[in-house]
Amino acid sequence: MTPESLRRINSVAQMRAKARQILPTAVFDLADGAAEDEWTLRRNESAFDDIQLLPRPLDGAATRDLSVTLFGHTFSMPLMIGPTGLSGLFWPQGEQCAARAAAAAGTGFVLSHGSVCTIEDLAVTGASPRFMQVFIYKDRGFTRELAERAAAAGYDGLVLTIDNQLGGNRERDIKNGFVFPPRMGPVEIGGMAVKPGWLWRMRQELSKIGFGNYVREGEKIDLETMRMIDMLDPGMTWKDVDDLRKVWKGPLILKGVMHPDEGRRAPDHGVDGVIVSNHGGRQLDGAASSIEALPGVVSAIGGKIPVLVDGGIRRGVDAVRALTLGASACLIGRPQLFALAVAGEEGVARVLDIYRSEIDRVMAFCGAKSIAGLGPELLLREPWR
Ligand SMILES: Cc1cc2nc3c(=O)[nH]c(=O)nc-3n(C[C@H](O)[C@H](O)[C@H](O)COP(=O)(O)O)c2cc1C
Repeated sequence: MTPESLRRINSVAQMRAKARQILPTAVFDLADGAAEDEWTLRRNESAFDDIQLLPRPLDGAATRDLSVTLFGHTFSMPLMIGPTGLSGLFWPQGEQCAARAAAAAGTGFVLSHGSVCTIEDLAVTGASPRFMQVFIYKDRGFTRELAERAAAAGYDGLVLTIDNQLGGNRERDIKNGFVFPPRMGPVEIGGMAVKPGWLWRMRQELSKIGFGNYVREGEKIDLETMRMIDMLDPGMTWKDVDDLRKVWKGPLILKGVMHPDEGRRAPDHGVDGVIVSNHGGRQLDGAASSIEALPGVVSAIGGKIPVLVDGGIRRGVDAVRALTLGASACLIGRPQLFALAVAGEEGVARVLDIYRSEIDRVMAFCGAKSIAGLGPELLLREPWR
């Protein structure tokens, strides 16, 4: 993709359409799909339509400051890149590309537990702020090990995802025969040959695609038979959060908080922030949209710790809408994967640039000079009450 054609991609929707042309169906669906009927995914996106802004342009917002300070870092805008497993399947060294693009844009990046590269490989890029995402495993020692490795590799925060304790029933992946970790036999590769550009780009990567962090040094793990999902523990409790809190000294952020009750309890367990998220609709189909869950969690937490949100943020205006409802910042998942597939690091830089200019434009229309100026007074009415 030439720089000129990349510049002509002006929206996340266009980035998705381009990614669809480029990627084999199974890889596109891995990112684009969700659980079962994908109701929650659709609702994540469509619920934003219920939030109407009241522009207030006479407040003299000639220039806008989009920065936010969270977890001891100042981010150039209230939007960062959330954890997505197997980003390295979308572009060679996908995780490193996305982290570098985020750092260059002055924002944050969260490395998935299920990254193709390892915690340490990503750290070598020097991209920062960088956060590491982990789960609670049946082998609690493995959770602790990942946290210790992240600390040793200088990560700025730990994200504990709580909504992935079972595998979501992702029917597109089942239909496409996509398994975790992906099998890359002749049949699978043959099926991908219909997208020669992607296949050529990935030709040296495909044999290495797997979950880098799951292979312990000196240990041989059979990625063909390993089922990562069987390693997770649906029996996790707040005690596990407490135990992790003792091990991890930096900011600890809970991802997948939807219920006000869990939000209310989080600060008492030493958690430094929560992310309201339903995993992009990839886990429980029928879960509320994250933007509709946000106000309940914000009010339960009562300002004790920051509340972030992800799910369905496809425009800068969606990020602004979330901030008016009390979010401190937003994260994106799929848009970053589509951008990676289109143009690697430059693609992610482009998608972040699109969000930044959209957020800035909305703030100007709303007369908001800074993020602090985005509050409920900009809403036509409080939604969903
Ligand atoms: C392909 C893919 C892989 C993901 N892997 C992870 C993961 O490893 N850990 C995690 O906490 N969330 C994961 N997520 C969820 C995202 O972090 C995020 O919650 C979700 O994608 C946000 O919704 P959006 O895609 O609508 O922006 C993944 C999402 C996608 C699309």
